[in-house]
Amino acid sequence: MCGIVGYVGTQQATPVLLEGLTRLEHRGYDSAGVALLGSTGIKMAKRAGRVRDLAEGLPKRFAGKVGIGHTRWATHGPANDVNAHPHTDAKGLVAVVHNGIIDNAAALRQRLGDEGIDLVSDTDTEVLAHLVALSEAPTLEGKVVDALAAVEGTYGLAVVHADFPDRLVVARNGSPLLVGVGEKEMYIASDLAAIVRHTTTIAHLGDGEIATVTAGGFTTYGGDLRPVTRTAETVDVDPAAYEAGEHESFMHKEMLEQPAAAARVLSGRLDERFGTAHLGGLNMDARETRAIRRVKILGCGSAYYVGQMGAALVEELARIPADAEAASEFRYRDPVIEPDTLYVAVSQSGETIDTLLAVQEIRRKGGRVIGLVNVVGSAIARECEGGIYLHAGPEVAVASTKALTNMFLGFSLLALQLGRVRDLSIADGRRLINGLSRVPEQIQEILDREAEIAEVASQLAAAESLFFVGRVRGFPVAREGAQKFKEISYRHAEAYQTSELKHGPLALVSEQVPTVAIVPDDELTDRNVGALHEIAARRGPLVVITHEGVDLGEVEASPNFLARIDVPRNERELDPVLLVVPLQLLAFHAAMQLGHDIDKPRNLAKSVTVE
Ligand code: F6R
Repeated sequence: MCGIVGYVGTQQATPVLLEGLTRLEHRGYDSAGVALLGSTGIKMAKRAGRVRDLAEGLPKRFAGKVGIGHTRWATHGPANDVNAHPHTDAKGLVAVVHNGIIDNAAALRQRLGDEGIDLVSDTDTEVLAHLVALSEAPTLEGKVVDALAAVEGTYGLAVVHADFPDRLVVARNGSPLLVGVGEKEMYIASDLAAIVRHTTTIAHLGDGEIATVTAGGFTTYGGDLRPVTRTAETVDVDPAAYEAGEHESFMHKEMLEQPAAAARVLSGRLDERFGTAHLGGLNMDARETRAIRRVKILGCGSAYYVGQMGAALVEELARIPADAEAASEFRYRDPVIEPDTLYVAVSQSGETIDTLLAVQEIRRKGGRVIGLVNVVGSAIARECEGGIYLHAGPEVAVASTKALTNMFLGFSLLALQLGRVRDLSIADGRRLINGLSRVPEQIQEILDREAEIAEVASQLAAAESLFFVGRVRGFPVAREGAQKFKEISYRHAEAYQTSELKHGPLALVSEQVPTVAIVPDDELTDRNVGALHEIAARRGPLVVITHEGVDLGEVEASPNFLARIDVPRNERELDPVLLVVPLQLLAFHAAMQLGHDIDKPRNLAKSVTVE
């Protein structure tokens, strides 16, 4: 949420900053700006709109070898030119870009106002620029520390100052910030995507740390300016993974990457001989694993829905009570933390603030938390005591796809391991391993039918409102289907348990309100088909995601029956991961037909790093 990039070195900074901002645009795309340190002090350009609007409007002579840039997702104040970052002080000596939220911004604005300082924007960030400028500390690092001492809240920020033209100073508290090392040039960014073309040698700042970055290197400090050692490490990423290539969108590319991503998360973790999974990263021995009495999964948005699928897997395979809860609500209800509960934080980015704060709350109360996280070295991954990396590769599209598939598979591995140290038989373990091994090729089979599913999507795109329904294993699938659909098509898509339709929502079913029903071949098929009859009787258009051979009876002949999409059969416990793939394609193609910007849906941003 919001993106920061910075450069100090021997090249002109502007092209590096603009390229970085373009790559960060999925983090926030309502305004963008850059500030350069040139021979005449700070030059700034910023405006509402996309990075390309900023680039087109840059003045002819906009030169400098030190600079910072920002792409914004508005929190305080609407998206307009003035509220765009960077922000500066009254004399234009300081420029600041900031991700996060300054909680005491109102009090600080008041205080600055009382001191006769005019604030020009509605943002919380602007106070930082004034506070840095007001500090009498002799160094820029000292000024930043003085400013931060007055601030409560979260930040990843970068500061330039006309009196210190050789450096950027960056600071982090709850919002990611990393330093990238080049040859006589250095980069800073809130996300590796911004600088991956230039360097993959990076150091992550810890919370409460600040760093000075010059062309020659970087130095990290604690909040008291005592040096802290942070060594840059080269990470193993392919810069091409951050390109959409021939695909019209990242979401499309990432959906198609699912078979390969699924194979990666399973690779080396399946033990056919003992019918179990190897998850060395959990850092738990068999005795500790057996001592777990309950599993509590925490995640936000789609990660929460996959968490519900994960909880079902744990209960089914390990027979341990398990549930999932929205991480954003968890810590505010003062939860009881139990010593024999295994808490599991699930997050693609590893930076979602609500999930991170939930992890910190559990740890503060002495609980054990593991992470199912995609981004290696991210805040949640570092905060957890162990975990399962998802190996989905970089996910850029705001609408998550391949990371979610891998979350499900990660939960399957966890449930298998928890099951095998309890009552799950070796035969069942092997049965699931066999099923898991088939998932990548079965996802591919569904993706190969994209054209057919796009046709179905064209019949849904016109509807203003839709239901997505499923039962038990199918319900979180329906929730995820509705989530994907609403995120990118902007249609009202509501998920319900099929069993609950009669208790209220059936009143809304009509010719204008289609239902996408999840009807796998399982213990509940007959009951699900019964509900389909009730929808068909009310002339509700129907799309049914099911398995080959499932008899939908007369429903298929009903006048408003739109389509059935059969997914390949696997073990019942694993059905959700296959049922969800057509729902991604439905959402994607409906949104395409509506002409929406798939990767940058309105009002949203990748990685929610503010509460
Ligand atoms: C939906 C989506 C969001 C994320 C949620 C959590 O497509 O992407 O609902 O799932 O914001 O994000 P992570 O997984 O990064 O914690």
